Amino acid sequence: MQNQKHKFRIQEGISYINCAYMAPLMQSTEEAGIQGMIRKRNPFEISQEDFFTEVTQLKGLFAQVVNCRPGQVALFPSTSYGFASVLNNILSEGRKHCVLIENEFPSGYFAAEKWAQKHQARLEVVAAGDFGSRIENWNEAVLNAITPETAFVLLSYVHWFDGSIFDLKRLGEKCKSLGVKLIVDGTQGIGALPLDLQEYHVDALVCATYKWLLGPYSSAIGYISDTFSQGEPLEESWMNRQNAQDFANLANYEESYFPLAGRYNVGETSDFMKIPMLIDSIGQLLEWQSREIQAYCKKILSPLRDFMAENGIHLEAERFQAQHLVGFQMNERLNAQELIPALKANNIILSVRGNSLRVSPHLYNTEQDIEKLIGVLKENIKIIQHS
Ligand SMILES: Cc1ncc(COP(=O)(O)O)c(C=O)c1O
Repeated sequence: MQNQKHKFRIQEGISYINCAYMAPLMQSTEEAGIQGMIRKRNPFEISQEDFFTEVTQLKGLFAQVVNCRPGQVALFPSTSYGFASVLNNILSEGRKHCVLIENEFPSGYFAAEKWAQKHQARLEVVAAGDFGSRIENWNEAVLNAITPETAFVLLSYVHWFDGSIFDLKRLGEKCKSLGVKLIVDGTQGIGALPLDLQEYHVDALVCATYKWLLGPYSSAIGYISDTFSQGEPLEESWMNRQNAQDFANLANYEESYFPLAGRYNVGETSDFMKIPMLIDSIGQLLEWQSREIQAYCKKILSPLRDFMAENGIHLEAERFQAQHLVGFQMNERLNAQELIPALKANNIILSVRGNSLRVSPHLYNTEQDIEKLIGVLKENIKIIQHS
């Protein structure tokens, strides 16, 4: 895979290695959004069919990304909306707790907390262990926390702090065997790290679109399994009813929803700016393929991993570590907070989480971006005098 910087308009001289924060738009995605906005100059050019055809196209593309049926895809304005839609349809049935991982993103955390309050249940938050085989042990600890008393597990399969990967295969198997629902936040993975839903037992998957799906803000997309196909949506949009395409007859109130996940789409689903943007970006991602994106990120980060290792900063085993989102836990030689001014001064943009440097490249990053980063690290390294 070649570098794809030419498809973006990232300001010259800036090393933006922060897709986990927010992706830049490709030029084509930007153009799709602008054209979508321009369409509203002449509303008579927007046909009744247009309200549905692009939504259907987008669902089909996302279904290809995660390997599910298009009818199982729903569109939301945020992940919090997606989680609320799903958790509202999980009954406690006497189960006493739900399982989360430490430092889960707040949208998932608060949804689970609300569920627990409503059902007088407990949140079982599984802590990350010590560095070393940390993620391997963490995976085991999550598995061990799942019991017949668990109602659901909600977790980011790629952790937003450092790219730790959770083993959906084993988690899904255990959840299925005990009738526990598995709800996945795919925001920091889908688009950049392959995930095949046919290989895992996942009940719902929700992703914000503005990071690894290279799409707009204020939008999320997800897979909702057939388990929830008779559930109650958060709101009652006319667009989710079987007669929605027949504008003349909307007042013949139709009770039945579109099948499968169709009832969960946010109202005014057909956003004429955001949907074309997502069709563009996801279409491009499907061409690129996430395994190629992993390989590219791994290649350009290789000198950085070596440099870190020489300085005592090691990553977890590769099967537990995403290549597109890497958190380097700093030590006494390199302090993450102290690095911030130097990074800024050199136009290197990435995130610091605690004392960890979060590097999240994409195809628009180059080997030079990483060299520049290593240069700044070298300048800021503290030589520890061991007596
Ligand atoms: C793991 C994860 N989930 C979700 C989100 C965004 O949540 P929401 O769409 O509810 O704003 C983020 C944003 O950083 C994230 O990192």
